[in-house]
Amino acid sequence: MTTVLVTGGAGYIGAHACKALARAGYTPVTYDSLVHGHADAVRWGPLEQGDISDRARLDAVLAQWRPAAVMHFAAYAYVGESVENPGKYWRNNVAGTLTLLEALRDHGIGSFVFSSTCATYGVPQRLPLTEDHPQHPINPYGMTKLAVERMLADFDAAHGLRSISLRYFNAAGADPDGETGESHDPETHLIPLVLDAAAGRRAGITVYGSDYPTPDGTCVRDYIHVSDLAEAHVLALRALLAGAGTTAYNLGNGRGFSVREVIDCARSVTGRQIAETPGPRRPGDPPVLVGDAGRIRSELGWAPKHVELAAIVGTAWRWHQSRHPDPA
Ligand SMILES: NC(=O)c1ccc[n+]([C@@H]2O[C@H](COP(=O)([O-])OP(=O)(O)OC[C@H]3O[C@@H](n4cnc5c(N)ncnc54)[C@H](O)[C@@H]3O)[C@@H](O)[C@H]2O)c1
Repeated sequence: MTTVLVTGGAGYIGAHACKALARAGYTPVTYDSLVHGHADAVRWGPLEQGDISDRARLDAVLAQWRPAAVMHFAAYAYVGESVENPGKYWRNNVAGTLTLLEALRDHGIGSFVFSSTCATYGVPQRLPLTEDHPQHPINPYGMTKLAVERMLADFDAAHGLRSISLRYFNAAGADPDGETGESHDPETHLIPLVLDAAAGRRAGITVYGSDYPTPDGTCVRDYIHVSDLAEAHVLALRALLAGAGTTAYNLGNGRGFSVREVIDCARSVTGRQIAETPGPRRPGDPPVLVGDAGRIRSELGWAPKHVELAAIVGTAWRWHQSRHPDPA
């Protein structure tokens, strides 16, 4: 079986990707420091604990497993923290990835799928965002992801390391079979926070800004189900193994949902009350972020299955309840 090294495979999206890889007949070998990941999320292949900036450990793992390709999820991903402590982000996301890429170059590995983000675009000049939209990130997190995209172009030109950068919009939901789900600490993503409020694990949810130029005044975002995201990684991997060249694709739903729509959907899915507190707009939050994923649909045949908000919130709620059962 073809082996794929999955950095960050003990994290939220990486674990779903490992499941999709195993289903597609690959052996996913997780390489994760467990700084934010969970050993019990690694269920579809072995776990090699290690840091992407540890060259000696990388060399040992690459020599042992000889992967045909790498999927690179390992990174820090808190926008606010990246503003307060940019060095932490440049060191891990950029310097760490550089160490990884040099190791791959030296081990002759030529196929790489990268977790990029819509945060590389910055404030939209037009919507929906397409891949050729200018990339002007407005926070260090987005900057580090763009820097890696640029590094990848250089490594292809010089060393023939071909890569597909997948620019995700908001990953959400959980494995429909209930085998894995979202578990960030701290949690900053809207849907798990809203579900925490529904479950009584937090008092309510703060809605940051209700006077945006959107239909209900709250911010509109594009939510993509994590299992659809994982399938896209398998398609990108297959394309690279078949010889595809370096490129980038958006991964979004193509539809936006407002913060208020998400909260209302969570009320209806859970049957619980969710208290809302109005808050100020957050600096740097564009009113609308919606992506056009037409290119990956037409070029790689990606066909998302869980596009309805209720399906996304429903799978997340089932996972949430399995992790935090009601005291009753
Ligand atoms: N969650 C989203 O909505 C979203 C959106 C766009 C992009 N992304 C990107 O997708 C990737 C995965 O995100 P996630 O939500 O699953 O995050 P996550 O924190 O759940 O997973 C990241 C994993 O990487 C590991 N890791 C971090 N630094 C490491 C290092 N130096 N060496 C080894 N392992 C390390 C962590 O332990 C964790 O298991 C990240 O690169 C993130 O930037 C996520």
